[in-house]
This record gives sequence, structure tokens and C-alpha cells, in this order.
Amino acid sequence: MMASSSISSKSFCSLSTCLFFFIALIAFVEGQSVPAVYVLGDSLVDVGNNNYIDGSLLKANYPYNGIDYPGGKSTGRFCNGKNAADILGEKVGLPTSPPYLSNTSSLFLKGTSFASGGSGLFNSTGQGFLFKTLSLPKQVDYFTTLQARLVQHLGAAGAEQHLSKSLFVVVIGSNDVFAYFDNNNKNKLKNVTPDQYVDEMIAILQGLMKQLHSLGARKFVMVGLGSLGCTPAQRFKSNTEDCNSDMNNMAIKYNNKLTAMMAGLQSNFNDINYTYFDTYPVLYDIIQNPTKYGFKEAKAACCGLGKLNAGVFCTPLAIFCPNRKDHIFWDKVHPTQETDTILVNVIYSGSPPYVTPMNAQQLIAL
Ligand SMILES: *[C@@H]1O[C@H](CO)[C@@H](O)[C@H](O)[C@H]1NC(C)=O
Ligand SMILES: *[C@@H]1O[C@H](CO)[C@@H](O)[C@H](O)[C@H]1NC(C)=O
Ligand SMILES: *[C@@H]1O[C@H](CO)[C@@H](O)[C@H](O)[C@H]1NC(C)=O
Repeated sequence: MMASSSISSKSFCSLSTCLFFFIALIAFVEGQSVPAVYVLGDSLVDVGNNNYIDGSLLKANYPYNGIDYPGGKSTGRFCNGKNAADILGEKVGLPTSPPYLSNTSSLFLKGTSFASGGSGLFNSTGQGFLFKTLSLPKQVDYFTTLQARLVQHLGAAGAEQHLSKSLFVVVIGSNDVFAYFDNNNKNKLKNVTPDQYVDEMIAILQGLMKQLHSLGARKFVMVGLGSLGCTPAQRFKSNTEDCNSDMNNMAIKYNNKLTAMMAGLQSNFNDINYTYFDTYPVLYDIIQNPTKYGFKEAKAACCGLGKLNAGVFCTPLAIFCPNRKDHIFWDKVHPTQETDTILVNVIYSGSPPYVTPMNAQQLIAL
């Protein structure tokens, strides 16, 4: 771009070149310092891995999922539009990290997503006849394979540099909590208290975090559990459409232990930094005060059938609302794109106590 001759030669740059520098600076500040985003987690951030798992019904690559996604496409996202992984990618200035199982690259130099709908910390969570998912341990296995390829391609020092600047986003635990309250699981877990269960979850997560650290991960975005007991699926089970407070209490318990675990990890390692997003109070406030956020419907799902549209998941046989922007929930467990946008805004640029010890923007700047 050439400076216009009508501008005094003393000025640092012309309007157009200044604009160029300004945009370049913003791009640098906002995005260029993150080479890659690695996403690990469940359906809240699955961008299509489950499409590639054969013999499983745990998929969302059919209508009316994706009705508000560019092109109205059902991509495998459990959402009406873009999900939290897409929105975070946009903030960071990188394209959405593509599904690892898509094999669209062997190195995924700008990141990849291992996230898989239905998954949890326990290998057994979400698995069953016709139900298959990538547990978080399995996702870390896949990352281990990818990291070895990166070392081969970039060299040990190159891979170390690349990974130390990358973001590792971890969104997991909801399905493990759902599983604890699942009647089919109740007998098996009869003697496991909520405290013990949550302790086991955290112990598995801690082991996986240490594994990620040993492979070079240094910057983590840890997403806490939301008010799971207030999802339409749980209100459906209540005569009065109330939240399941036992489930909510387990989510809070998990979040408290996750916070302590991360603080411990940081003091152990001395070379990690992280953002912890306390999803619970943020989502709960949206549900309690929907109009404050521009929502009209806090209880019912947009897509489904039956009471609160929470009797079934969103399939072509279900009905869906015309006014998705009014709804907090897309289906009986997943938020709408509108809700995800609010949540990711807090992750990216929010303040304590909702994001601690720093937000994602500050984490990136380190
Ligand atoms: C991806 O590669 C793996 C290993 O080579 C193979 O088993 C799998 O079928 C491939 N998946 C796709 C979607 O091409
Ligand atoms: C869970 O699966 C991973 C492999 O994906 C395996 O390494 C680990 O041992 C399994 N954990 C348990 C408790 O079976
Ligand atoms: C990043 O983490 C290290 C220890 O892991 C700590 O010494 C440092 O203060 C952290 N940076 C910020 C900005 O918190």
C-alpha cells in the first residue's frame, strides 16, 4: 500500500497506511501469538469428530442441528449454529480447529479438535450399544500421537516452542455428572458418594493434565461445569419444571475441586498458566435473569418434542422454534449459539470471579 502524496511527508503514515498498520497491529495483538488451538472435550465443543465414529448414534450431523450455521449445514455440531469452539477460534483469530478424525491434515499446524459428543473423563461415560465416543483419555492418546509427528516435523525445540504458545482448551465433565444420575448407572454406583465420584473425576483429569504438560502444553483454558441441573432435560423430570439441585450441587463441587487442582498443578510445575472459567454462576444468572441478556425462554429447548421440548433430542422428526435468539437452550442439554457467544465473551475478556486467575486474552498475551 502506497502513502498518498496529499498527506504531509512529515506524518508518520497516511490514512490508508495507518489503517493498514492498525489492522496488522490488532491482528498481531489478537491472534498471531497463538500458533494453534487444541480442543479437548465433549459435545459442547465437538465440531464433527463423532461424524467419523462408525456404528454410533451419538451424532448431530442431521437437521435441525446447524440450521443457523453458515449454509444451514448440519456439520456434527450439537447446536443451532456455531458452538463455543468456533466462537473462541474467531476471537483468537484462527479458523476453527478441525476434527482430528477428519484426517484433513497430518500435522494440524493451526490446531485440531479431539472433542467428541457424549464423552467424559471416565472411559465408560457415553459408551454403550450403538453409543461410541472418544473419552478424554482417548483424546489425550491421540494428542500424544500428533505430538510425536510434530516433533518429527518441527524438531524437538520447534515443537516445544509451538506447543508452549498454543492454547489447550478443555471442556469436560458434564457427561460424567449426567452418568452419575442416570438410573441405569445408579445400581453400579450405589456405594459411591458424590464426593468420591468427583474426586475420581479430578484424579483422572489431573493425570491427563500432567500428560499434556509432559508433551509440551503450557497454556490451558479450563472450562468449569454449568448449572447442569437446570437444562431442559432435567426440568423435564420434575413435575414443577424445577432444576435438579443435587446435580447442580455436584457441578459446583466439581468446579471447586477443579479450581484447587489447577492451582496445585501450577505451583507444582511453575511453567504453566491457565484461564479457569466458572461457567456455573454465569450460566445460572442467564437462566435466572433471561431478559437481562435478551432471552425470552429459559426453560424450554428450542428443538425437540414433548414437555419443554425436552422429551427427545433434536432430530428431523422434532419441532424447532422460529426464534432461536430468544432461547438459552437449543436442545435438551446444549446451549444455543446466542448463549455460547455470551459465555465465550466472558472466557475471552471477562473478569474475576468468573474467569481466574486471568482471561483468555491475557493468557494469550503472556
Ligand atoms: C484417517 O486415518 C486413519 C489411519 O490411517 C484411518 O484408519 C481412518 O479411516 C482415516 N479416516 C478418514 C475419515 O479418512
Ligand atoms: C482409559 O482409556 C485409555 C486409552 O484411551 C487407557 O490408557 C486407560 O488405561 C483407560 N483407563 C481405564 C481406567 O481403563
Ligand atoms: C504464569 O505462571 C507462572 C508459574 O507457572 C507464574 O510464575 C507467573 O506469574 C504466571 N503469570 C501470570 C501473569 O500469572
